[in-house]
Formats: sequence, structure tokens, C-alpha cells
Amino acid sequence: MRHLLSTTDLSQTDALAILDTARELALVADRPVKKLPTLRGRTVVNLFFEDSTRTRISFEAAAKRLSADVINFSAKGSSLSKGESLKDTALTLQAMGADAVVIRHGASGAAHRLANSDWIHGAVINAGDGTHEHPTQALLDAFTMRDHLRDGQGSLDGLNVVIVGDVLHSRVARSNVWLLDTLGANVTLVAPPTLLPVGVETWPCEVSYDLDEAIVKADVVMMLRVQLERMNASFFPSAREYSRRYGLDVPRMATLPDHALVMHPGPMNRGMEIAADVADAERSVIVDQVTNGVHVRMAVLYLLLGGQEG
Ligand code: NCD
Repeated sequence: MRHLLSTTDLSQTDALAILDTARELALVADRPVKKLPTLRGRTVVNLFFEDSTRTRISFEAAAKRLSADVINFSAKGSSLSKGESLKDTALTLQAMGADAVVIRHGASGAAHRLANSDWIHGAVINAGDGTHEHPTQALLDAFTMRDHLRDGQGSLDGLNVVIVGDVLHSRVARSNVWLLDTLGANVTLVAPPTLLPVGVETWPCEVSYDLDEAIVKADVVMMLRVQLERMNASFFPSAREYSRRYGLDVPRMATLPDHALVMHPGPMNRGMEIAADVADAERSVIVDQVTNGVHVRMAVLYLLLGGQEG
């Protein structure tokens, strides 16, 4: 594997190799000195055209823990605001010797464009392209499920995962559906009909409009952020109505099986798709997801850049 663009490119063997490597690398986080020399002298560029808190910081922490040099490039304050193209930006990064480019972009397909060009010679990692994919998020979600529900071992065979909310705009949902299917889990998407993409019936998952019915057998409930910034029309009558039907509040959470986890990729709209008390509940693993993001991104950087050299 040269790039990480989409979870549809990962076989079960590839995905498990990343998760197993992440588990090994997680041990570094428990040491007083959280650093390995593996990627010394390599340069990782974080190329972020869209806002991000968790993902950018997480890639930065991951690269630094492997001793790579990190260049953070965000659209604001760069020549992009002067109209420079993706191509010229990429050529500039190549000229500076980037070994890997982590890209987040508002256009679906931007990471593929970069990977299939001769502008960049290094590895391209998709950190979110429009409403398309966000593969490292799905991998950290799978890591978290495996860690809490499967002793950190094996596939996710037979696990029932319910993904709820704004599927239409969610690259997290797309990447998760394919990765979870590859790992053997059963996925159910729950959303109002207006927030489901065209063609969802061809995806490897079930679709439901009834959250109460879907969650009683769930091992994991993953709540998605309502992405108001991508909505140019009204997709539901009101925030209140949305929360009532598709939000996870305390009474609804009480109907989950005892062992079930609550997840959210962040950033959360507390009070909208998830109640504040649910976000902070004991079964909520939202903060673990952030921690695990660093392990998984270390594994991806290690396997793409350093793996071959031992
Ligand atoms: C998500 C994203 O940017 O796709 N966040 C993340 O990376 N943790 C989800 C979102 O923005 O709602």
C-alpha cells in the first residue's frame, strides 16, 4: 500500500495489520518518553484546507512520536487565500521534500487527485475529503470498538453497530460502513430520509428510520454531528424535532444493552444529536476515540513510510 485514501481499498488483512500495529505503538504512550526514532529525518506535511481540531493535532502528535519532522500548512494565512491552486501548492511541498502529505480538503476526491498526480512523490493520506471519506477516523473507531468489546483482538465479526444522524454529509459514516463491513460487523444507519444519500441501498448495511427500534440490540451507537455548515436548505423541521427523533438523550440511552458503547467523532453539538449527560456518561468512549486516533495514525505513518525499513 502506498497511500491511504479510502477504507474501500483495505482488505481485512490490511485493516487488521493497521489495528495490530496501532496496539503495539499504543504502548509508547505509557512510557515517560513518548517517542520512537522510526521516522527520523522524514518529513510529514499536514495540508489542511478545511478546519480541524482533533484530526490535525492527532496527525501532528503521531508524526512527532515517530520522530518525523512535521510541517503544518493551513489554508488560512497561506497563498491559498491568494488563489494558488492545489497543483502549485503540491509542487511547492514536493520541492521541500515531503515524504508524506496528510490532506483535508472540502472537495470529495481531492486526496485521490493528489495521489494520482505526479505533483507529489510521497505517500498521500486522506484526512477527510468533502463528504466522501475519512479513513483514519474509521480505523480509530474500529480500534476503540475492538479495545472495549473484543479484548483488542481479532475482527469485529457479528458486532452490531448503529450509526445515527447526518449520514448525507458524513465522510465518517461512509468510511465506517465499508471498514466495519470488511471487519465482519453488522451496520445499521438511522437517519431521517432527507439525510440519507442517494444510492444508500447499495451500501453494505441496513437502513432504518426508527432509532428506538434500532438501538435495543446495539453493541455500539455512533452519533454523527449535524453538519449545518454543509446544509444550504432545511433538511428537518427544527432542531427540537430532530433531537426528539434522532438525538440520543438519557432515557433513550437507558434502553441500550448494558455493555453498549456510545461514540461520536467530534466535534459534538451537545443538546442536538447528543445530550450533554450522554456525552459525559460512563459508557461514552468519545475521549478514548481521540486518544486512539494518535495510535492509529502512528500505525498508518509507520506502515506507509517506515515499515519496509524495519
Ligand atoms: C469529522 C470530520 O471532520 O469529518 N470530525 C473529525 O474528523 N473528528 C466529523 C464532523 O466534522 O462532524
